[in-house]
Amino acid sequence: MPPAFVHPTAVIDPGANVGDDARIWHFVHVSAGAHIGEGSSIGQGCYVGNVQIGARCKIQNNVSIYDGVHVADDVFLGPSCVFTNVQHPRAHVSRKDSYAKTVIARGASIGANATIVCGDRGITVGEFAFVGAGAVVTHDVAPHALVVGVPARQVGWVCACGERLAARAGGQSCHRCAASYEIVDDNLRVL
Ligand SMILES: CC(C)(COP(=O)(O)OP(=O)(O)OC[C@H]1O[C@@H](n2cnc3c(N)ncnc32)[C@H](O)[C@@H]1OP(=O)(O)O)[C@@H](O)C(=O)NCCC(=O)NCCS
Ligand SMILES: [Zn+2]
Repeated sequence: MPPAFVHPTAVIDPGANVGDDARIWHFVHVSAGAHIGEGSSIGQGCYVGNVQIGARCKIQNNVSIYDGVHVADDVFLGPSCVFTNVQHPRAHVSRKDSYAKTVIARGASIGANATIVCGDRGITVGEFAFVGAGAVVTHDVAPHALVVGVPARQVGWVCACGERLAARAGGQSCHRCAASYEIVDDNLRVL
């Protein structure tokens, strides 16, 4: 695999680990403890803290990934989406030792300008879940769930391919790739 492309305006702190074939665009800052997986792309103006980013992720412009956020493989982060790691911040109280965790699981997508509020105990956006543009996520999102709005509520299910699923007798199916799923205990399972 070709080595990473790093635009000359990006700042990669010594110690950061950038995988093969990754692309780091204009004015990005990558912290010393960061790990960016193979083939991932980090858009213009992003900040990557001491965090792990999986392989083949697409991170659009102006996303700050603070300490405490974990991004798995094949994740899409839309432009200007926002993460948080302190639920009750105060400028004069240091919370550095108690950052809440946010996990964005494999294959999930976060829409443009969405905000993920970490809560006190952290938050997980499940595998292949889809957060609509502008949503404010305050609870865990189930795998394959589609959530929108403020606060975000589930309005449907999404296929691994990204298409919204249509209800059919006994389950859900995808018009785009023909995958079929069933719902068991409020969770989507591939058939
Ligand atoms: C949530 C989303 C996946 C829904 O797409 P869809 O299934 O094609 O939905 P539709 O456009 O047919 O809209 C269905 C309804 O949901 C509403 N809706 C769509 N997106 C919404 C959003 N982000 N938040 C709140 N409501 C939304 C629509 O207004 C519509 O409501 P109506 O039936 O009352 O008119 C999509 O709108 C979205 O937000 N995608 C993310 C886009 C993005 O951020 N891309 C980043 C890369 S550029
Ligand atoms: Zn599909």
